Formats: sequence, C-alpha cells, structure tokens
Amino acid sequence: MSAPAPSVQLAELRRMREAGEKIACLTCYDASFALLEDRAGVDLVLIGDSLGMVIHGGTMTTPVTVEHIVYHSRCVAPHLKRAFLVADLPFLSFATRERALDAAQRVMQQGGAKMVKLEGGREQADIVEYLAVRGVPVCAHLGLQPQLIHKMGAFKVQGRDEAAAEAMLHDAQVLQDAGADLLLLECIPAALGRRIAERSRVPVIGIGAGPDVDGQILVLHDMLGISPLVTLGRKPRFVKNFMEGAPDIESAIRAYVQAVKRKAYPAAEHCFETQTAPALAGVKTEAKASAAVQGRARLPASDS
Ligand code: KIV
Repeated sequence: MSAPAPSVQLAELRRMREAGEKIACLTCYDASFALLEDRAGVDLVLIGDSLGMVIHGGTMTTPVTVEHIVYHSRCVAPHLKRAFLVADLPFLSFATRERALDAAQRVMQQGGAKMVKLEGGREQADIVEYLAVRGVPVCAHLGLQPQLIHKMGAFKVQGRDEAAAEAMLHDAQVLQDAGADLLLLECIPAALGRRIAERSRVPVIGIGAGPDVDGQILVLHDMLGISPLVTLGRKPRFVKNFMEGAPDIESAIRAYVQAVKRKAYPAAEHCFETQTAPALAGVKTEAKASAAVQGRARLPASDS
C-alpha cells in the first residue's frame, strides 16, 4: 500500500505555482463533503461565507458570523488528511485590527483553519499586515466582493475598464507587499486575471477570472448543480455543473479536479471579457445585475 499523500501546506501551493501545476480548490461546509473532497484530490478547501446562501438559504453573505465559520470549520477540519484549509473572515469581523486578530485566532485555533481569507483591496493592507506579521497566513480576495453588496447594490463583473483594471493590479501589489500569501480573484475579465497572475509573487486563485491564474475555486453546491442559484436557473457564467455525466458526487468532484489540472476548466464559455464597448456593455451589465440582485445576491449567468 502506498504512503498517504503529505498534507498540502503553503509551500506546496507556491511550488505548484512555480511548476505550473494548477491548484484545485472548492468550498466545503460539512464532514461528508470534506471526506469526498479530500479523497478526490482537492488541494485547498475553503469554508466560504457563501455558506450563508447555500447552507443557510439567505440571499447574501453579510449575515454570516465568525461563529458560523468556526462551526463549519470544525465540521470539516478533522476530515481533511491532505487539503489545505482556509476560512473566510465574515463581514465586519476584520473591521479593526483587534477584531481581525480575534476572528483569525478563533477560526484558526477553534476551527482548525491554516489561513484566513478577507475581502478588500488596498484599504485592507493595514489589516493584512497586522495579521501577517503575527503569523496568520492571509488570502486577499479582490474583484467582486460579495460582502459589499449593500454598498454596490448589485453584483457585477469587476475591472472591465482599464482604470479599474489598473486599480486592481495596484491593489494586488499592495496586498502582497502587506504580507498576503495568496490572492483570490472573483468575477473579472480573463485578460485581467492573467495580468494579475503574471505580476504576482504569490499563488493566484480565480473564480470567474479566466484560465490563466494558478488555480480555480468554485462553490461546491454550484458545481454540483444544487445551489438555489443554479436550481432557480441563474447559473453564473463561470460555473460548470460537474454532476452532468457523473455517476456520483465523488466522481463529479474528481472530474472538477481533473478538469482544473488539465486546464480544461474554465473554458472560453466560462470567462468574462474586457469591456470593449463601454456605453452599451455597461447598460446591459447594470440592468441584468440589478435584476439578479432582487432574487439572489450572486452573479447571474447572463452577466457576461
Ligand atoms: O464564500 C465563498 O464561497 C467565496 C468564493 C470566492 C469561493 O469566497
């Protein structure tokens, strides 16, 4: 019998980036799926605040608390033999340095996470640095930030014009300089995903950020085709339902991992483009995103 694969650490994620091996990531919220994901070869598991939507049935992530993240981390962590566990810091839990440190301490010590993820650009650099110098590995989440729903009013693709793209490139550098060990890019044009990954010194994981980043992540219930968003017929453009053609859930997760590793997912149909006709595309995007937010606070399939 072969020896069990060693657990994935940050150094392994960095090695994979250097070697050009894609990193397969997935959200997870409970023990049963943790076992399946780990066995299927998922490299990084995220306790995402998307649990507020796919587990709790809400329309946004803002009601999720540190207690929720710790609870679900505790369900998942003991069942991961190999995958690297990351936990979200929920809305306002990192609003001050002290709160961020307290939240990170709880999700790492009580939940078993090895890294925290927090949404925001350069305005979070101070918090990222405060955590990083205290030994907390941080993943910085750029692009679409679902926790900003009440400020944005609607969810839409980010970084589509050159000014916004430049701002995001700058954010990515500032956050790395502050100590971020990983970047996550959500819903941005594939060309911008590539530019950020090319200039990055740390692994870059994308969700709706095109194929030219170091790894991919999806919400588990989306890629199994069972999230309310998908069953209500509003599958985001970047989501592929891996249950289609799979005999069981574990096979679907394996198919996802293999598709990421082989660079077969995401395909062109899952990617967003840079805005070429600003006026027209802007109107279309706004209208569709606003319609979507009335139902659910995540990006609809049609927002392309
Ligand atoms: O909460 C979540 O699931 C996320 C996604 C980007 C995967 O942050």
